[in-house]
Amino acid sequence: MNANLEQIKQEIIVGAEELNTSREVYEFKKKFLDGKTGKIGLLMKEMKNIPPEERADYGKGVNELKVWALDFLGELDTKMKAKELQNRYESEKIDISLPAETTTEGNLHPITLIRNHLIDIFAGMGFEIFEGTEIETDYYNFTALNTPQDHPARDMQDTFYLSPEFLLRTQTSAGQIHVMEKQQPPIKILSPGKVFRSDDDATHSPMFTQMEGLVVDKGITLCDLQGMLDEFVKKIYGEDTKTRLRPSYFPFTEPSVEVDCSCFECGGTGCKLCKGTGWIEILGAGVVNNKVLENCGIDSNVYSGFAFGIGIERTAMLKYGINNIKLLFESDLGVLQQLND
Ligand code: DAH
Repeated sequence: MNANLEQIKQEIIVGAEELNTSREVYEFKKKFLDGKTGKIGLLMKEMKNIPPEERADYGKGVNELKVWALDFLGELDTKMKAKELQNRYESEKIDISLPAETTTEGNLHPITLIRNHLIDIFAGMGFEIFEGTEIETDYYNFTALNTPQDHPARDMQDTFYLSPEFLLRTQTSAGQIHVMEKQQPPIKILSPGKVFRSDDDATHSPMFTQMEGLVVDKGITLCDLQGMLDEFVKKIYGEDTKTRLRPSYFPFTEPSVEVDCSCFECGGTGCKLCKGTGWIEILGAGVVNNKVLENCGIDSNVYSGFAFGIGIERTAMLKYGINNIKLLFESDLGVLQQLND
């Protein structure tokens, strides 16, 4: 082989030792084999300067070198690519036996859960939702509900007045008036929302949540109320739960009742939760006072109705066995997680 060709071959062999990536192999290959600028390509162009009698040998030598270089560098390229692929596999390897990182999941607040549960139950009985406003006038919150100024029943609720006319509603009962003013019977609504009273101890909070129910139609009596309550307590506290009505007083209902259900903890035999009585007070209710119907332009000779009001925090405290209402407002994640378990 021509000395020059041998020198190029050595140059390729030695140079290849230095190559580390397929990219470098590609560049190196170009340096020798590129048709126009590569060293072997240029050798072909030299052909015209070779004496004619030596041309055949020279051409053969260059060709052999080219075939060898293609083969040698091709093989190197294949090896280099295989090595690179292997490196990629190694670096991207996922250890599926590693324990997964746990992420804490958010949850609805117990009050929201109970509110949604109650809405589901009553919606299933055909109640529509009416959401009133948290700021009310004295008229809707009291006067129209048969509690005029100076009525002793106003003392039952310590009110946050914003002005002589406006106040933070103390009861969702205000929603009854809005609905009855706008709509003639039949009426069947549920009004959930926040209410406010200047009251603060272990079982009372200045802000809490109530749910008001109102049914008005022809021929509605206390029996309809009792029937609906029986269904309701079975759905929320279990099939064996019973109800009982005790006489009470609310200005907007006549007669008024306090509703108890048989203790869902002991089944009625007496325990700590029901203070040994076997019964737990769950809500206030009654037959809508005729004066309230008339205040809203509904003829009390034709129509009658029943209403009820449930405290959601109280329901939650009973359900979760909590004796301090503050636990429901402090957003302590440790407590909330326990309640959701
Ligand atoms: N509004 C009453 C309260 O906040 C609860 C209530 C009692 C609502 C009797 C009613 C009812 O609709 O009939 O204490």
